[in-house]
Amino acid sequence: MPRLKTPVLLVCLAVFSTASMASAQQAVENPFTSAQDVSVGMKTFRSNCITCHGRTGLGDRGPNLTLGSFRHAVDDPAMFRVVRRGIPNTDMPGLYGNEKSIWQVVAYIRTLAQGAGSASLSGDPINGERIFSTQEDCAQCHTVNMQGGGGGAPDLSNVGWQRSAAYLRRALTEPNANVDPEWWGIRVTQATGEVTSGWRLDEDTFSIRLLDPDRNLLSFNKGELSAFERLEDSPMASYEDILSAEDMDDLVAYLHSLGRGTP
Ligand code: HEC
Ligand code: HEC
Repeated sequence: MPRLKTPVLLVCLAVFSTASMASAQQAVENPFTSAQDVSVGMKTFRSNCITCHGRTGLGDRGPNLTLGSFRHAVDDPAMFRVVRRGIPNTDMPGLYGNEKSIWQVVAYIRTLAQGAGSASLSGDPINGERIFSTQEDCAQCHTVNMQGGGGGAPDLSNVGWQRSAAYLRRALTEPNANVDPEWWGIRVTQATGEVTSGWRLDEDTFSIRLLDPDRNLLSFNKGELSAFERLEDSPMASYEDILSAEDMDDLVAYLHSLGRGTP
């Protein structure tokens, strides 16, 4: 726990003024790093930053934020300052918001770093690939290098390059923590009382089409429905209780390897 650093830091700082102690203490760590914080940070990022940094942080008008090393935002406190104040004389604007919301964006940016955690990955990617392709149902929904993917879930061919290992693990254990609205489901209730839920494919004024869990394409006339509602949970189940800890490590190691050979 990084908290343990505090007493050591206090000793070092005792020679300096209390004012510098307070600011340095605040600088030690980001207080808002839970899955929930990361998820809120992602939303803030998506509303304020993707025009320049890209939807997955890979950069566009602004730099790539997934490399795990930064010119200005060298540590969390520096990143906090960059996000809060912007970088003078560049395109990088400051973000209006309270401290908590800025720390949450910092926490989200940290999850994008592909370098993070790579050194400590102990899993076996070969066994991970076997789990992905044959032991579990991942390939029924996801595509990797043009294989699988009938279920239309995100293409994972470059996921190891786009995401940190910590993010990948969280995607498997807490899939509901960061669901992009594009993946929300829908539940329709017909006038007969019959309820069907599935993936919302498309919708117009009069009809709605969805894919049910058995991957049947269903079309409903909105006028004949008594209700329909969005489901904001991921269509993907949590694998936390399904996989052993060892298999989880292997699967994360496999996902982490995806796309990392390419620049
Ligand atoms: C209008 C475009 C624009 C927007 C919007 C924008 N940025 Fe930036 N950002 C930049 C540019 C350009 C730089 C590089 C500035 C420089 O050093 O020349 C940058 C730099 C950064 C850096 C520092 C990178 C480093 O190497 O240290 C971080 C972190 C960052 N932006 C995060 C964000 C976040 C978070 C948001 C949303 C709250 C955001 N940016 C919104 C353009 C933008
Ligand atoms: C029923 C279809 C389905 C199955 C089965 C499934 N997923 Fe997913 N998965 C999704 C959807 C939809 C998303 C996007 C929504 C979300 O973030 O949860 C997703 C998201 C992910 C992400 C995050 C991608 C990103 O860039 O944010 C990873 C990683 C992932 N899945 C890996 C797996 C693995 C590994 C398995 C098997 C153990 C698996 N999935 C099984 C549908 C599925």
